[in-house]
Amino acid sequence: MSQSQPGSQPDSPPDSGPPPLDRWEAAYLRFETPEQEIRKFEKRLLRFGARAWPRDLRIVELCCGRGNGLRALERLGFTHVEGVDRSAALLARYQGPARLVEADCRALPFESASRDLVVIHGGLHHLPQIPLDLVRTLDEARRVLRAQGRIALVEPWQTPFLRLVHAVSLRPSLARWWDKLDAFATMTKYEAETYFAWLAAPEAIRAALAERFEPLVCDARWGKLRFLGRARG
Ligand SMILES: C[S@@+](CC[C@H](N)C(=O)[O-])C[C@H]1O[C@@H](n2cnc3c(N)ncnc32)[C@H](O)[C@@H]1O
Repeated sequence: MSQSQPGSQPDSPPDSGPPPLDRWEAAYLRFETPEQEIRKFEKRLLRFGARAWPRDLRIVELCCGRGNGLRALERLGFTHVEGVDRSAALLARYQGPARLVEADCRALPFESASRDLVVIHGGLHHLPQIPLDLVRTLDEARRVLRAQGRIALVEPWQTPFLRLVHAVSLRPSLARWWDKLDAFATMTKYEAETYFAWLAAPEAIRAALAERFEPLVCDARWGKLRFLGRARG
């Protein structure tokens, strides 16, 4: 685990460039442009009610990847933003004022009751063991949140729309026609084990969330679960 200062990148030798991407990471960068992803995350945060949240909330985004969720938070005016991810290659692609921490979301290097909001955009379905690793991550999120702190997350969810997307994108002849679909199919291929295990466990996931966080928003539409919850005491 390494920590870096605001505006800096994780430690690396001088002039070595960002660490190389693995195949999933390369497809992920192809899936959406940074601008498309930042706008998507901004819209999600606004739908959660972010316009009314105090701008000095201490926010940590888990599984922040290349940092477009951090940039969405910054654009909305939040001033205390941190990102955690285990991939040095993706963290190295972020440029901005947020403090970056290279760490595993199942063991957060933060003091208890030290943050106001935990955000996750599509990181939990990468965890190898569901529900065990989900429970570990949610317990960590609740530990670092102050009393009444909140968690806001969006993850893939098995809905009719997602079934349709899979039916189309998993046919190579069709996916080839659209780069975004092809990137989605490639990501799905390399994350298949954790992704499909996640989609297959909706009850366990909902139970793990509701046990630790009082649901304020919880809906499943267009292939996504949206959950905003307040930490239970
Ligand atoms: C779909 S991406 C999330 C995208 C990200 N929110 C963004 O704005 O770019 C999933 C991320 O989860 C990270 N990840 C997966 N397992 C992790 C773990 N155990 N701890 C921390 N990060 C993890 C991956 O490195 C990847 O960056």
